[in-house]
Amino acid sequence: MASNWNASTWRGFEARHLPAYPDADKLDAVEKTLASYPPLVFAGEARALKAELAEVAAGKGFLLQGGDCAESFAEFHPNNIRDTFRVLLQMAVVLTFATKQPVVKVGRMAGQFAKPRSSPVEKQGDVELPSYLGDNINGIDFSPESRIPDPDRMLRAYSQAAATLNLLRAFAGGGYANLRQVHQWTLDFMGRSPWADKFTDLADRIGESLDFMEACGVDPSTVPQLQGTSFFTSHEALLLPYEQALTRQDSLTGDWYDTSAHMLWIGDRTRFDGSAHVEFLRGVGNPIGVKCGPSLEPDLLLKLLDTLNPSREAGRITLISRFGHEKVEAGLPPLVRAVEREGHPVVWSCDPMHGNVVKSDSGFKTRPFDRILSEVKGFFAVHRAEGTHAGGIHIEMTGQDVTECTGGAVAITDERLADRYHTHCDPRLNAAQSLELAFLLAERLNLERAGDKAEAA
Ligand code: PEP
Ligand code: CO
Repeated sequence: MASNWNASTWRGFEARHLPAYPDADKLDAVEKTLASYPPLVFAGEARALKAELAEVAAGKGFLLQGGDCAESFAEFHPNNIRDTFRVLLQMAVVLTFATKQPVVKVGRMAGQFAKPRSSPVEKQGDVELPSYLGDNINGIDFSPESRIPDPDRMLRAYSQAAATLNLLRAFAGGGYANLRQVHQWTLDFMGRSPWADKFTDLADRIGESLDFMEACGVDPSTVPQLQGTSFFTSHEALLLPYEQALTRQDSLTGDWYDTSAHMLWIGDRTRFDGSAHVEFLRGVGNPIGVKCGPSLEPDLLLKLLDTLNPSREAGRITLISRFGHEKVEAGLPPLVRAVEREGHPVVWSCDPMHGNVVKSDSGFKTRPFDRILSEVKGFFAVHRAEGTHAGGIHIEMTGQDVTECTGGAVAITDERLADRYHTHCDPRLNAAQSLELAFLLAERLNLERAGDKAEAA
């Protein structure tokens, strides 16, 4: 267990990007209420995810992490949950089939509400208001009342997270994720994408493999791995009063876990030296992600790793690089080398979203698909050159047919961004763009494996 730590020691550290609640009594009451509510996940599940990530850190698997930039109360609908889950499953099938390695599936879902913002204020015309900070803190409407941080929003976020997680668990274990269903997943979307045909082809091959197994006497209905899948949840552990209230001592091990999600990560703006967010997460047993952007020096990264994972437990740390397509090939190698030199077992994952935001001519915040691909390629090239494993991808995506990122095979143009631009924060890949990315990743992972084999021969 971490020394000199309890779930509230973070309060003595510098906490950036936390809201200033005007009503301290109400905040206190909400924290007490949340602390009395049931945990959302069980510590044993967080340990199971850590064990799967330890395999990835050892080069035997791939982490697929994705979902909304910001979940919202307005977009809370079973179809949205189902569609995002389905696209993640499709991506996982593409990756597993191509690489013959397990894919660890983690949603940015069931709790991904709070957002660090680049500016504390938003200006529209002559009016300046506090920025929108996520639906669990304040409202997106551009009005003074809606922008006041309201602790009650944490209770609504908790119940939305609980309902989302409940549906995800039902999908993962209740038959929807059965591999026999893989054709059904393709039914009602992205008929226009050339990648849909490629997916149908793959679904046919999986169906044939299952037929073959059945003919050999294996009854797929008795094989749990074919009947369902494991699926985990994650979010940025930004809103520390909420995270603290859901932090509980595991009765089996005596260790502390943040039971708001299986995996929590620290954002690029809150991983600085002396951060309250680092202090909080060092004491919980969950797998932890750390965003690594261009301003992160190797020495600070090593210090963070020593603080967050002093025992060097494999699976504990996932480093999520987010340099931008032009910076990744120069910026990432010094970090990879430092981590290798010190022998820290980590999963290296690529977030090709947050370094590639541009403003379109039409005024929308967008991300060109070719830049996203270019960062992914750069990430793989670095790991190839360093002899390390490109272990994962971290993306903002949705199963909906939105028009938020430009490009892709069904090209979204600047002019079309206005058609279905629904995100509450950053632009997301739509279903077709996500699947296209999965096929590209599969290709890169196969190159990595082919290289390994050539070296071994
Ligand atoms: C995010 O993941 O939504 C985010 C804010 O990322 P970063 O901390 O890398 O900027
Ligand atoms: Co984002």
